[in-house]
Amino acid sequence: MSTSPPPISDLPVLKLLNVESAYGPIKAIRGVSLQVRRGEIATVLGSNGAGKTTILKTISGIIDPRKGSIEFKGEDITAKDPAFIVQQGLSHVPEGREVFPLLSVHDNLVMGAYTRSDKDGVARDMEAVYGYFPILRERSSQDAGLLSGGQQQMLAISRALMASPDLILLDEPSLGLSPKLTKEIFEMVVRINRERGTTILLVEQNANMALNASDYGYVLENGRIVMEDTCAHLREKDDIKEFYLGMKEDGVRGERRWKKKKTWR
Ligand SMILES: Nc1ncnc2c1ncn2[C@@H]1O[C@H](COP(=O)(O)OP(=O)(O)OP(=O)(O)O)[C@@H](O)[C@H]1O
Ligand SMILES: [Mg+2]
Repeated sequence: MSTSPPPISDLPVLKLLNVESAYGPIKAIRGVSLQVRRGEIATVLGSNGAGKTTILKTISGIIDPRKGSIEFKGEDITAKDPAFIVQQGLSHVPEGREVFPLLSVHDNLVMGAYTRSDKDGVARDMEAVYGYFPILRERSSQDAGLLSGGQQQMLAISRALMASPDLILLDEPSLGLSPKLTKEIFEMVVRINRERGTTILLVEQNANMALNASDYGYVLENGRIVMEDTCAHLREKDDIKEFYLGMKEDGVRGERRWKKKKTWR
């Protein structure tokens, strides 16, 4: 199949404007504005506690924002019910995967398609995800709880795909995985984007993987977007190299070392 990039439209499929969300008195995101264009992989980079997961939970309706608005495919989805948002074509792969451990791999995938009535399309997509992740076909009758972490991540992404979404929110797919598995998962995410044209919003601490896989990136610090650009440009910026990619040589660290406040895994 062709792996040429899908056309990225200038029209945003997702638009956040000044979104603010809090847990009681703790403001987790403070006026976040961002856009994801149809066909692209966009990423939000940020260290531990920056607010990445909160952004995704606010988009998918798990948390209601205190302020701001969220538009998906031109419709206002701010604080709408999560089930309604899934039905509009937006799937969320949560942090820590959260597959149904006592259901088989196959039944997890069936659950992913619960909003759909097109049986033929569901069967086609089941074949497609088994094509992307052949190990899931081998394990299809096993309980999902018995899969390894990497396989559970594959299943969580596949379950999201079973809803035939326009946009997938992907929360730290690299969490707890070996570098080799992380690479495999990211390659598959790019392939899914290229082959199916699925738009993806990825949040990651692993800046290296995220910047290589994505088209456009935002940097989030303490709940605020502090930088945005194409990933090609972000990869070349000194601050990004130093704080997020760890690429500065020892000799240059010296006096700038105080700035190293990130904890990256
Ligand atoms: N359920 C909660 N109750 C109270 N505070 C929370 C809760 N969840 C997150 N927070 C706080 O909100 C802020 C943002 O957290 P969030 O989980 O969105 O960050 P993150 O960027 O996803 O971090 P990580 O990389 O560790 O997953 C942090 O200060 C965190 O302590
Ligand atoms: Mg998180």
